[in-house]
Amino acid sequence: MTKPVLKQLEPDDSLNGFDCGDPEVNEYLTRDGMDQQRRRYTRIYVVCLENRVIAYSALACYHLFMHLPDDETISHRVPGIILGQLGVHREYQGKGLGYFLIDHAISVGNKISESAACRILFAEAHDDKMGYYSNQDFEYVTETKSGLKVMCYDLEKSRERRSDDLPASDMDLLSVDNGLD
Ligand SMILES: CC(C)(COP(=O)(O)OP(=O)(O)OC[C@H]1O[C@@H](n2cnc3c(N)ncnc32)[C@H](O)[C@@H]1OP(=O)(O)O)[C@@H](O)C(=O)NCCC(=O)NCCS
Repeated sequence: MTKPVLKQLEPDDSLNGFDCGDPEVNEYLTRDGMDQQRRRYTRIYVVCLENRVIAYSALACYHLFMHLPDDETISHRVPGIILGQLGVHREYQGKGLGYFLIDHAISVGNKISESAACRILFAEAHDDKMGYYSNQDFEYVTETKSGLKVMCYDLEKSRERRSDDLPASDMDLLSVDNGLD
């Protein structure tokens, strides 16, 4: 059986029929993704079965004025990256792909922090998705003007996060070409 592969979005990847159940998240990938990536507004990672995209995340640099738990005296401009989009095709939901892409974003953040400061993985969530992120140790920070909840995961915590803490998945995501090595 073909194994899913994690890689960066390329023009030849098949986006036809991608449906995660959220029209905005679908449209970002299928209509805007390649253009946004070409302009360096985002970096899109896709999980593909053969060349068909079954899940994706979109990452970008970000910062927020906020208090960190280990330094509550002052509000800092805290650098990080943001998981701008996260979508899993309906047929493949509930198999751990969302968690897998969050873990991958944590790895990217940690890799970046070796050369430019990167402390937090941010995510913007609709109210009904806050629970999904808080289950992954994200904490609520603030609300955007459009009502999205900004959630943050402190990359300092990822030192304690072990790969065998990943949720069980029957997707067997062994083949990873994420350009990190
Ligand atoms: C949210 C989404 C990315 C989750 O991806 P997924 O691969 O199906 O999720 P995973 O397999 O990693 O995790 C499944 C777990 O999350 C839980 N979960 C799913 N949606 C949840 C929600 N809205 N709130 C709390 N928990 C949720 C499931 O109950 C399951 O729990 P379990 O591990 O205890 O059984 C996917 O449902 C999706 O693409 N949704 C539409 C787009 C979207 O809303 N993106 C997020 C933008 S805020």
